[in-house]
Amino acid sequence: MPKLMSVNTFEHNQRQCQLTEGEEVWLFGYGSLIYLVDFPYIESKTASIRGWSRRFWQGSHDHRGTESSPGRVVTLIEEAGAICHGVAYKVEASVFEWLDVREKNGYLRLSITMAFEDETSETGLVYIATSDNDAYLGEASEYDIAYQIATAKGPSGTNSDYLLELADSLRNMGVEDEHIFTIEKYLHTIDTN
Ligand code: SIN
Repeated sequence: MPKLMSVNTFEHNQRQCQLTEGEEVWLFGYGSLIYLVDFPYIESKTASIRGWSRRFWQGSHDHRGTESSPGRVVTLIEEAGAICHGVAYKVEASVFEWLDVREKNGYLRLSITMAFEDETSETGLVYIATSDNDAYLGEASEYDIAYQIATAKGPSGTNSDYLLELADSLRNMGVEDEHIFTIEKYLHTIDTN
């Protein structure tokens, strides 16, 4: 039975993860932060993090679904040996005022080390929705995830667009992500009419 609860991590992130005004911070994006860049940044480049896998296991009650019919969005799950590819943005600390609002449905800002293609690395921040948040939906088969995504929509648009734009961005970056591409393949077989 999916939980039908939203959560609000805005205050927690603002309180627990205070930054200095004017500080420049690296942010690692692995989901909609790859393709929906509605914030100013100083520099961006592709990056990867080690030990984490991208999974459509977080509920979306505020962007790609509703309280009564949540969608699914990605979070990161710890997995030894896994590498998750995404995009890193260098941003000013003030940008987190907006990002904490955008990512408020269960995501916590956590510290992470990201590696760049030139073999340099930086420690920065990433939004992760951990399994103990009330909007967490957890594991399901990739077909069931596709089915839920096919029918969900919310104030930010359809859940299908979230998945398809993420899959397209990963393809354009040359990234293989079996979980995402399997769900995409199933989505194309589901008739919602
Ligand atoms: C991210 O993109 O890094 C976090 C999850 C999301 O906003 O889709």
